[in-house]
Amino acid sequence: MVNLKEQVGLKAAEFVKDGMIVGLGTGSTAYYFVQELGRRVQEEGLSIVGVTTSNATSEHAASLGIPLKSIDEVPYVDVTVDGADEVDGAFNGIKGGGAALLMEKIVAVNSKDCIWIVDESKVVETLGAFKLPVEVVQYGAENLFRAFEEKGYRPSFRMKDGEKLVTDMKNYIIDLDLREIPDADALANELDHTVGVVEHGLFIQLVSKVIVGYPDGPRFLEKH
Ligand code: 5RP
Repeated sequence: MVNLKEQVGLKAAEFVKDGMIVGLGTGSTAYYFVQELGRRVQEEGLSIVGVTTSNATSEHAASLGIPLKSIDEVPYVDVTVDGADEVDGAFNGIKGGGAALLMEKIVAVNSKDCIWIVDESKVVETLGAFKLPVEVVQYGAENLFRAFEEKGYRPSFRMKDGEKLVTDMKNYIIDLDLREIPDADALANELDHTVGVVEHGLFIQLVSKVIVGYPDGPRFLEKH
């Protein structure tokens, strides 16, 4: 059976050229992209600098010998390749299933170009079946949780080993079970203005290219 995540990871690596500063996404799909860049660095002498979006990706990339810098050490990123949990026809999406949404969004907004790599199951008509991750500061998180409950957002704290998960940026994640997000712009705006919310997983107008994996080969979608 074709590994669709590997297929799109390899395809996206074709966009990376010598000398680039490359944003390295997080998750099981971005894994294959990073793996392929590591191979090219080792076998072909590809010269790049990676900017990672999580501690997990930093460890992976470093283990492959990819030179790394933090986002603050580079003026911009040439291209970032990352996975997504959902993407709609307008190239908006939900990210944060791997709890890395804050670093991912910071790297994305500092990138000249962003490419998402997803398998066919991630393409949706309307966002929201995937629970929307919201990264919140720890202080006041219980009150924020109750406020989300009152709004009917069906929140749940992301857990790990029986404790609230703490992100690489030392925050909590509250996942909102919205089922459907009819107006992603309005919700993003609301969350952007909610005190205690550091960032949310709605990525609106941040990518113009999506590579979707299908059993008969990857399809490249570009927004014009
Ligand atoms: C991590 C993310 C991931 O990109 C997203 O969850 C997709 O992951 P995967 O490729 O493992 O399905 O947003 O925060």
